[in-house]
Amino acid sequence: MKACVFEQHGGVDQLHIADLPAPRPAADEVLIRVRAVALNGFDPMMLAGSTKLKVPFPMAPCGDFAGEIIERGDAVDPRWQVGQRVSGYPILPGKGMMGEVTMGAACEVVAIPQQNLVTLPDGLSFEHAAALPVAYGTAYRMMTMRGQVKAGERVLILGATGGVGVACLQLAKAVGAEVTACGGGVWKGEKLREIGADHVIDTSKDDFLSAARDLVGKPSYDGSSDGGYDVVVNYIGGDTYAKSLKLIKRYGRILVCGATAGYDPQTDLRYIWSFEQSVIGSNGWTVEDQQTLMEMAADGRLVPVIHAVRPVEEMATAMQELTERNVFGKSVLTL
Ligand SMILES: NC(=O)c1ccc[n+]([C@@H]2O[C@H](COP(=O)([O-])OP(=O)(O)OC[C@H]3O[C@@H](n4cnc5c(N)ncnc54)[C@H](OP(=O)(O)O)[C@@H]3O)[C@@H](O)[C@H]2O)c1
Repeated sequence: MKACVFEQHGGVDQLHIADLPAPRPAADEVLIRVRAVALNGFDPMMLAGSTKLKVPFPMAPCGDFAGEIIERGDAVDPRWQVGQRVSGYPILPGKGMMGEVTMGAACEVVAIPQQNLVTLPDGLSFEHAAALPVAYGTAYRMMTMRGQVKAGERVLILGATGGVGVACLQLAKAVGAEVTACGGGVWKGEKLREIGADHVIDTSKDDFLSAARDLVGKPSYDGSSDGGYDVVVNYIGGDTYAKSLKLIKRYGRILVCGATAGYDPQTDLRYIWSFEQSVIGSNGWTVEDQQTLMEMAADGRLVPVIHAVRPVEEMATAMQELTERNVFGKSVLTL
């Protein structure tokens, strides 16, 4: 089978198309002919080897994928049939995350257990389905179950231009929140407005703390003013973390699902106690969340934001763009 792989850590020049043996399904697994995959922020990190995770070589990128079932293991439930269109929940039991510690999905054929299957509703394209799992799944859990973002709340999203960021923005707008979206560059700012941002801060030229204070005012710890945000979404970390705390209203919350710019940031505990803030972590999503997102995308409640759709042979270009922060939303590749 055709696969896009790297055999050692390095730059995008390590990515190449290889002819690998196709997997065989275990009794409780199906084989999927992959039609589309999507990149996430972690893919360039896995290629570069900048995490402590141990990558098996040869390694294909991508945890996000959609395709059709082409073979069933002997013990697979009759509800899963050859020809059915599916996406995969990429955290495999006992093996971990596809594209991180187990083979990614940028291959013509993948084998996954039936418990990881999610049905594609009619009318949902493989490209849209592949854009949803990791980024939209993570955002969905963070904004709903963990963050409880509600109508009328004021929400600030840092790094709103990435996969998780655009999803957070769309989900916050869908419940009726007022959103300030931060992103780097004029063209990204225009796109943030197109997908519903009420306010945009261009972090390539403006300090988000002072720009946000100019927009909504400073919070007050006694509730005497209406400044600040009910919710700050911060998976950037690094030097944005302590600044974020200064923008959160009394009883407000900061939602954290990652730390793109550093996981051991300086904090400022005074804001956490004085404003009675809650720091809320969020990790992953469920198979049911992924199914819900597929239904939302199929019936038009959610339109996945896709930066580009390219053939998998152009993986290096897509990966380079992501590394250079030159992407808005999700990069999709077809096989
Ligand atoms: N816990 C979980 O289950 C889970 C799952 C998925 C993702 N995550 C985490 O969620 C975060 C977002 O993931 P992602 O895939 O959407 O993309 P990402 O590549 O991590 O970045 C999203 C956005 O952050 C901004 N950014 C990137 N590097 C930055 C830096 N060094 N300093 C400041 N801003 C930076 C960029 O926007 P601009 O260039 O416009 O500024 C980019 O569009 C990551 O930290 C990831 O690890 C967690």
